[in-house]
Amino acid sequence: MNAEADYRLPRTVIPSRYELRMEPDLGSAGFAGTQVVDVEVVETTSEIVLNALDLIVAIAEMVDGAGEVHRATSIEYDSEKERVILGFSASLTPGRWQLRTTFTGTLNDKLCGFYRSTYKDEDGNQQIIATTQFEATDARRAFPCWDEPDLKATFRVTLVIDEDLVAVSNAAEISAKPVGDGKVAHEFAETMKMSTYLVAFVVGDFEITGPVDVNGIPLRVLHTPGKGHLAEFALEAGAFALRFLADYYDIPYPGDKLDMIGVPDFAWGAMENLGAVTYRESALLVDRKRSTQNELARVADVIAHELAHMWFGDLVTMKWWNGIWLNEAFATFMELKCVDAFRPDWKRWLTFAHFRASSMDVDGLSATRPVEFPVASPAEANAMFDTLTYGKGSAVLRMLEQYLGERAFRDGIRRYLKQHSYSNTETDDLWAALEAESGEPVGDIMSGWIYQGGYPQLDVTRTADGFRLEQRHFRFLGEGEATWQVPILYRIGTEEGRLIVAHEPVELKGSDGLLLNRGGDGFYRIDYPQETLADLADEFARLEPAERYTLIADTWANVLAGATSTAAFFRLVEALGEELEPDVWAVAIGGLAELDRVVATDDRPELQARVRALVSRRAAELGWDPAEGESDLTRRLRGLLLRTLGNLGDDVGTQITARQVFGQMLEDPDSVDADVSEAAIGIVAANGDESEFDRFLRLRESADSPQDEVRYLRAAAAVPEETTARRLVGMILAGEVRSQDANWLLARLLGHRKTGPIVWQLVKDNWDAILDSMPPQNRRRMLDLIMYRSEPEIAADIEGWLAEHPIGGAEKYTEQQMERLRVRVGLREREGGRLRESLADPT
Ligand code: BES
Ligand code: ZN
Repeated sequence: MNAEADYRLPRTVIPSRYELRMEPDLGSAGFAGTQVVDVEVVETTSEIVLNALDLIVAIAEMVDGAGEVHRATSIEYDSEKERVILGFSASLTPGRWQLRTTFTGTLNDKLCGFYRSTYKDEDGNQQIIATTQFEATDARRAFPCWDEPDLKATFRVTLVIDEDLVAVSNAAEISAKPVGDGKVAHEFAETMKMSTYLVAFVVGDFEITGPVDVNGIPLRVLHTPGKGHLAEFALEAGAFALRFLADYYDIPYPGDKLDMIGVPDFAWGAMENLGAVTYRESALLVDRKRSTQNELARVADVIAHELAHMWFGDLVTMKWWNGIWLNEAFATFMELKCVDAFRPDWKRWLTFAHFRASSMDVDGLSATRPVEFPVASPAEANAMFDTLTYGKGSAVLRMLEQYLGERAFRDGIRRYLKQHSYSNTETDDLWAALEAESGEPVGDIMSGWIYQGGYPQLDVTRTADGFRLEQRHFRFLGEGEATWQVPILYRIGTEEGRLIVAHEPVELKGSDGLLLNRGGDGFYRIDYPQETLADLADEFARLEPAERYTLIADTWANVLAGATSTAAFFRLVEALGEELEPDVWAVAIGGLAELDRVVATDDRPELQARVRALVSRRAAELGWDPAEGESDLTRRLRGLLLRTLGNLGDDVGTQITARQVFGQMLEDPDSVDADVSEAAIGIVAANGDESEFDRFLRLRESADSPQDEVRYLRAAAAVPEETTARRLVGMILAGEVRSQDANWLLARLLGHRKTGPIVWQLVKDNWDAILDSMPPQNRRRMLDLIMYRSEPEIAADIEGWLAEHPIGGAEKYTEQQMERLRVRVGLREREGGRLRESLADPT
């Protein structure tokens, strides 16, 4: 184990302003830089230690207040700690100095630091882009710096590039001067005081949309040539978000302009560089008429998330990476708030229930971790960006917001941001601000949710005149002993209230109509007595959609944990007949799909029949064509139910129609609704063979939006043929799939019901090359669906292999995925053979 102190720079010399001149050479994939950093020497020293990685520093000198130059006599690298140590023959005395360096580096292909991204232009020629991704700790790959979030400084950037290219950085351009040789020096204004991980340089043959003025801030989208028609939605969502957020925070946008840039190769979804937000293309550029509700909402979500960071993260930043949850959880929370205001008809908070549920799936493991967790090395910082940080973090903030009230919560956020602008914080600073505005002991309530892993389940029992609530640590396997202060909203009869359940049981008076977790925002589960659950199922339609969701999700989780019978789950699912919300359907279908993964082959037709019985009436009502004036969510529901009927329900009629609709869509894409075409493609793929596979690959080549590209690649991975699965793995190894997509593609292949086992074998046979096909920081995600490999021998083989061949930096992640796998192996053992009885059991 490493200690944080091993990775923290000495504080003897502190930077306040960087002047950076960077000259990338796209053709030779190199760059040269010079920088002048205003520093304060705090303690007399003869060396300066700062971060640098894969850089060569040619010259380093310190200039004192009188202009005298002291050249470094030694330049040494500590590659393990990612540092450069500059030695001086005389000591540097306290006061103001300038550090001047000249250095070179390479534009790498690892999608981090200063890196190269490529695309084919309209003539089929390869074009090169130079772009950056510095979070968490890769600014040090681009220029020597004090690469820690609390060493904030201002940045004045100049990018020297070919005259026919475009360059952007964090702040507005203030001049562009030819410097000879066909080069132009683009100089950008000085940024606000901010962390190094937020600096960005982007250079390429981009097209730029005309700016939209948002409260005086010019908002633009940059994209590779020919994609202008895909930028309109991003501008609309971005303009809305900028206004909404400035209003919510009650602070103007902290930058001087805002560019949103679609980058063809991008490891993550997007990155909140102040004023120069970078995106994976599919998270920014979208054809609004031909995309599904989900795809459109994804773009709106990502934009809102990154813009939320401009204040929460960029203006106010965590002190160190242990606090990254605050950044990411809050931006996720805010993303939901913003998009919920942008499109109330999308009911984003209901969809958020899936994210909460998936983080509860991880947090119910013994291999979970606290949301806030000590971090020392860069690899540990990287490992923090997971579903606990994002999903659990945002869900517990939402739970707190609903408990405190939206207004008090917002006022607390405003106070926090104003108090700490241009500075750094720890978690307690947020609790203090929320306490000041709400008068509640926020820190006491929240610490259990943040500093310990897991969550409770409330056991509800009847008493003579009411109910008794007692918490118990929920675990899928084994037992836990933690307790929480559980903020509970409830309804009893027609009365609504809130209370905290702590260590001691709590009694609630009232005879019937009990509903706990009112509104469905709690990060806990409820275990009701049989009769209460039956009552709730009877009045299912009168519950809020999110309450219906949690009822199903909790019941399913208990099936997974072996605490509830599948028969009970089926009974609840039966109550869905009248359901109109796609998200509520989706949680039930998710459980059915998991059962379908473990059911004995002989019993599968029976499960399929049950699925058909459940969905077909509503699916028939919706048909294949949207009605005039239909809501987006109804369109999503249609897509979901058709796909469920065609695949999980194995409905032959639906499969035949899907093929026709697919054909029609290829003839005339605008003649088929996007959610319907997505469903049709999914059904054709799941029942397709190599000829369909070839067609998907061709369609991917000619796709005219990033969403279409993703959709066809996903379809290709769904084809249930060994040969096609092999071919896809071959394409990954041959670099015919962008490295940014390799992890999710492999995850899908490994999770595939039929071809997963053979892909697992291929992955083992080509282990090193497979790892090399992905950016290091994304590798772990190829295990995302490995839990579906619950065939006992394969599961054991997977565990054994990963124990022998650990994925670097993914130790915790792997441990969690292996425990999730074990949970599914258990499900298969228990339920696989007796599902037929459960299906038949009418009680
Ligand atoms: N700050 C992150 C990007 C990031 C992730 C940087 C991991 C370094 C390591 C950004 O704000 C983010 O959270 N992006 C998400 C998308 C978002 C909508 C949840 C992502 O990239 O998945
Ligand atoms: Zn984020």
